[in-house]
Amino acid sequence: MTPPTTNMPTNDQVRARISGSALQRAFDYFAVQEPDRTDFRAAAQRIHDDADMCAQVAEIVARLWDGMGRLLAWKQPELPAAFDPQDRAAQVEARFFYPVAFAATLPDTLAFHRTRAIPDSASRAILADVGRHLRVFERTFGRTGLHVQDWFSLHFRGLIYDFGRLQANLERLDAPADQLRAAEAPVVTGSVVAGVHIPDSGPLRPDAVDAALAGIRPFFARHFPELPAISTAHCMSWLLDEQLIDMVPGSNIARFCARWRPIGPATDGDASVRDFVFRRPYADPADLTASSRLERAILAHWQAGGHMRSRSGWLKLPGAVPS
Ligand SMILES: CC(C)(COP(=O)(O)OP(=O)(O)OC[C@H]1O[C@@H](n2cnc3c(N)ncnc32)[C@H](O)[C@@H]1OP(=O)(O)O)[C@@H](O)C(=O)NCCC(=O)NCCS
Repeated sequence: MTPPTTNMPTNDQVRARISGSALQRAFDYFAVQEPDRTDFRAAAQRIHDDADMCAQVAEIVARLWDGMGRLLAWKQPELPAAFDPQDRAAQVEARFFYPVAFAATLPDTLAFHRTRAIPDSASRAILADVGRHLRVFERTFGRTGLHVQDWFSLHFRGLIYDFGRLQANLERLDAPADQLRAAEAPVVTGSVVAGVHIPDSGPLRPDAVDAALAGIRPFFARHFPELPAISTAHCMSWLLDEQLIDMVPGSNIARFCARWRPIGPATDGDASVRDFVFRRPYADPADLTASSRLERAILAHWQAGGHMRSRSGWLKLPGAVPS
């Protein structure tokens, strides 16, 4: 456990942030739908009434506050798991511990956004990712909850924003120098780049991707003017596996994949694909069935002894000065 910090709210402050109109405001910013809203509210009430859980929420608020706007390594600050997503007996206050903690952090995140002149519409657009992930959790596990708290550390520390079809965060590139040189990337280890993410929000049409990429550089230049201009985007995803170009030829996925120059060796992507494509992260591939071209191609690939990969890659953002 980290020592208490000066930014630790009291239990009464936590209670005020997770009840009444403050909770309703969090639902609005997070775009929480039913049945998540009912369970979120039940969890907030239980945590409100339990001094130990209020103190645990206060600890999370303090960690996120301390990391506000800071480009920390991935999975920093540490946000320990509140429950095992495979545990069907996990109680609502565990499944919604982090959504409640994020509601308690919301005033700090919005205050940070305002210091950066981020418009309210942009705050709402990125924080609606909470509601989206609550829906994804139910699709995946058949009940409500949230288990990707590390991902949301970017949102609640004011580092990630919504660009329409893509999201992008400020990221310090940690790829080794030799890999960046081999990839002819115009950046060095430690450069600040835009980390690109693809939300589960419908088709990945190339024109929508173009529009999203075009917005990234001016946004960060306007709201984070002290940083060097962000000229390079970085992405780490199963969507950058070049095998996809032949597996789903001519598709949005194939065209997205082809935009990126690979950095370093590929890593195992089977688990990512079980999660992001089949939404069955713990399933035995033999139990999966296909209902789309992509799924049929992946199952055939696995049956033939192949593996899917995750890849890291870079591209030059539109408007970037040639190196
Ligand atoms: C990335 C994503 C938006 C692409 O969707 P898309 O634009 O509809 O994809 P394409 O048009 O290229 O699809 C080609 C084929 O694959 C299928 N397909 C694409 N993504 C699929 C997915 N996640 N699950 C199952 N099938 C999928 C399509 O239905 C289509 O098959 P069809 O011709 O039989 O209809 C989609 O996969 C998605 O929402 N993924 C979840 C988010 C994600 O993976 N983010 C990256 C995390 S690292």
